[in-house]
Amino acid sequence: MAGVKISGYGAGLPKLAVTNDDLAQIVDTSDEWISTRTGIRERRIAVDETLTDLCVEAAKAAMAQAEVMAKDLDLIIVATVTADLPLPNASCMLQRALGAVNATCFDLSAACSGFIFAMNTAQMYIRGGAAKTALVVGGEILSKILDWTDRSTCVLFGDGAGAAVLTASETEGILGITTGSDGAKGMALNFMEREIANPFKKTSGKIDVDDMDVSRFLYMEGPEIFKFALTKVPVSISEVLKKTGYKAADIDYFVLHQANYRILSSVAKRLHVSEDKFYVNLDRCGNTSAASIPIAMAEMSRRGLLKKGMKIVIAGFGGGLTWGAALIEV
Ligand code: COA
Repeated sequence: MAGVKISGYGAGLPKLAVTNDDLAQIVDTSDEWISTRTGIRERRIAVDETLTDLCVEAAKAAMAQAEVMAKDLDLIIVATVTADLPLPNASCMLQRALGAVNATCFDLSAACSGFIFAMNTAQMYIRGGAAKTALVVGGEILSKILDWTDRSTCVLFGDGAGAAVLTASETEGILGITTGSDGAKGMALNFMEREIANPFKKTSGKIDVDDMDVSRFLYMEGPEIFKFALTKVPVSISEVLKKTGYKAADIDYFVLHQANYRILSSVAKRLHVSEDKFYVNLDRCGNTSAASIPIAMAEMSRRGLLKKGMKIVIAGFGGGLTWGAALIEV
């Protein structure tokens, strides 16, 4: 079997919905500022859920739709920068919860592009014959790395997980993928120093890169990231269209990483495509990083928007810096 198709999607969201008005009680902000600058109105925040809980919910829904049992999975990749524990990794925690005893499991760290990078890796495993049925999950509990006194970041993000099942298939469901990275600009979005401390280290082990202390909480140069997204996203989408021989007009839906409505709107303009073709759920979920694309795809699937033969472009961008786009045929 030469092809790879996506045979199921699922999502797992925390129960608690936090509105912009709720945030205005915590930091100096307003519903008006957040909604006009970003399009976000509310986000889900984990209170009682772990990342594993959210990944399990997303995975079970995707597996049910794909009609795949846990023992059928031979690969699990979780894209995340906020695993419950550094060790064991999020994918092994998920494997344990699912009882997916035949799977090889590892995490992948590529921030908001993580789902696309993980999907690319899984499809290569399948095409190379190393796996037949892969579970790819993007999941984040970003709320645990946010500085809840910093209004410029804490209003933007949400928690959640999204999953897709990829299977070897006679027909082709992933028509093309392109990815890229620019580590030189990576410090524009960073978090979490861990000091190097061991018996041989004589001075402070504080990590600094480019003479900058790495932040314990999520640090973002918002306007820099905004500019980066406006440049890279249209280019990566054009690249994947060129690679596959399609035009923007042939695409039924564009499902972009849900960071900011103004980014989606600007990309639509640059591609000369109606904004109606851009699926939006950032108003309800905020920016869930690696989870945003599979959560959106799961919603679209549940709402019956994904019809056989449709062409969908997905595109991610974010920390690293990293970016990627893929053309999927439903
Ligand atoms: N509420 C009210 N005011 C706020 C605020 C908030 N939550 N956050 C920032 N502000 C203020 C700033 O302090 C600044 O005030 P000043 O002019 O008095 O200094 C003003 O609003 C403008 O800030 P600025 O950062 O220039 O706003 P912006 O229009 O660039 O929008 C972002 C900020 C973060 C929404 C925007 O830069 C963005 O979306 N960037 C991309 C982020 C992204 O996608 N990140 C994830 C990538 S995966």
